[in-house]
Amino acid sequence: MCGIVGVVGKNQATPVIFDALRRLEYRGYDSAGIATLENGHVERRRAAGKLDHLASVLARVPLPGVTGIGHTRWATHGAPTENNAHPHGTERVSVVHNGIIENFEELRRELEAAGQTFSTDTDSETIAQMIDYHLRRGLSPREAAHETLKRLEGAYALAMIFAGHDGMVIGARHGAPLVVGFGENEMFLGSDSLALAPLTRRIAYLDDGDWVIVTPGGAEFFDMAGNAVTRPVRTTALIAASVGKDGYRHYMEKELHEHPVVIGQTLQRLVDPATRRVVLPDLRFDLAAVPRGVVTACGSAFYAGMIGRYWLEQYARLPIDIDVASEMRYRDPPLTPGGLGLLISQSGETADTLAALRGMRQQGQHIVSVLNVEQSTMARESDAVLGTVAGPEISVASTKAFTAQLSVLACLTVALGRARGHLDASAEERMVTALLDLPSRATEVFEQRDAIRRMAAIVAEARDVLYLGRGSSFPVALEGALKLKEITYIHAEAYAAGEMKHGPISLIDRTVPVVATVPSGRLFDKTLSNLQEAKARGGRLLVFTDTQGAPRLRDIAEVVVEIPTVDEFTSPILQTIPVQILAYEVALLKGTDVDQPRNLAKSVTVE
Ligand code: F6R
Repeated sequence: MCGIVGVVGKNQATPVIFDALRRLEYRGYDSAGIATLENGHVERRRAAGKLDHLASVLARVPLPGVTGIGHTRWATHGAPTENNAHPHGTERVSVVHNGIIENFEELRRELEAAGQTFSTDTDSETIAQMIDYHLRRGLSPREAAHETLKRLEGAYALAMIFAGHDGMVIGARHGAPLVVGFGENEMFLGSDSLALAPLTRRIAYLDDGDWVIVTPGGAEFFDMAGNAVTRPVRTTALIAASVGKDGYRHYMEKELHEHPVVIGQTLQRLVDPATRRVVLPDLRFDLAAVPRGVVTACGSAFYAGMIGRYWLEQYARLPIDIDVASEMRYRDPPLTPGGLGLLISQSGETADTLAALRGMRQQGQHIVSVLNVEQSTMARESDAVLGTVAGPEISVASTKAFTAQLSVLACLTVALGRARGHLDASAEERMVTALLDLPSRATEVFEQRDAIRRMAAIVAEARDVLYLGRGSSFPVALEGALKLKEITYIHAEAYAAGEMKHGPISLIDRTVPVVATVPSGRLFDKTLSNLQEAKARGGRLLVFTDTQGAPRLRDIAEVVVEIPTVDEFTSPILQTIPVQILAYEVALLKGTDVDQPRNLAKSVTVE
């Protein structure tokens, strides 16, 4: 959360920084700001609200200079006002920060006692004031930065500029991501390689605790102790073209349409279509010897993990413990050494998931992460990474990453089932065939757009919506309810359908639509009974099913969305797509900010 950028070089910095902030706006959009060095002086412009507000400020009062830093904020400490917007600082230094400084109150008291004057409510200003304090004592920028870093507790990615030092930006990272981009006589810092995609493809990643001095000629890297270190420069595959909207109204719409391709690309990495077998990369441990699994993630990624749990238990007979990462990290459950620690994350930077990963490692788990950003912190701390080939996901609400995660988890299930002797060759062939069938079936889901729009018209009028599903359709219901809440601000709750009569049934009347995911298969009749119970109490039923289930639902449901019938194993992957499209269609009707819903941020690097 929060995006930061730094530029030093030959061109005017503000337009370059502003464009990069646009690509980082998914990380937070409560306020934004840019500071540059102009003839040795620090100048800054800031604005509350989205980047467009900053654009208006810059149009009125331009900001020249070839060295600069920028920030787009997701507020943690201090309201999202212009005064609390980054960059923070004094006439000597300007700082942008992503993360949380946990000991800021203690540091602030100390600095105020030493004569520093604060002007914001943020934790981040403490960093700037401490650097300023050291500069006033006569330390050089490099010394002042290093002295300050030694005192900071919590998480940070930082970029800073110093009055009188045109042509230099200092960056640092600890628990929040920062990359260095190498150009021709210009250098860049950014929260991720996507921010720098049109500027350069040559990227170096800072290790945790690293700091870096960037000048037009290159970068000097240091570890926390101040020793010079080297960090490899890699070429990223990202190209600027891949981050446009391709003619769609929103990134979310574009990304929904990418489901078929993303599932296909992800499977291509893990499945041999000739032999119909799953071929995992070397995990560096024996899958057959794994006694148990523990799965954790946050938000949508967690719901993908829940579906993974159903699969791993049912098909691979592997006992699974699962919890959201924010609970898992503090629950500290006793884990069997040699177990599988399975993490799922689009960004690979989510603070709670990362902390849970470290906890699992301490308890001797083999760490396997399902990640979309394969250069992320989690990737570097895992024993093995199973990549989702979803490409950049810009919409704050996750869509295509979810089905890509499920595709990976499905392949892992098959590999574990085989290794543990619970799936024979013909079962594996049947499951792999079902997986390979998904991209074309996923394309057919979009033919249901009209039926989904009829559902959306009903949901858009509601204040509360109940989502139901059983078995692996229960996490699909959770995902549907989360997506609806996130982008339409309509209250939605998801329940395991069988649990409805233990409480939420009291909510049901004409004003609370019931959205159910009911694919044909083992649990169809059970879920149908639960829907009858809702219907009997006046509930309006809006049902997602498949061609086989549809005939038995048409009489009781007001709207039926009928997608292709697929193997029960892969059904949750396909059922997720219309459920996400429903949220998108409702958001269109409500006129909300689909790609950047209020209060949210894409990459949650604070706990
Ligand atoms: C929901 C959503 C969030 C993320 C969650 C985890 O639409 O986007 O719930 O799924 O913040 O993020 P990652 O996957 O980056 O760890």
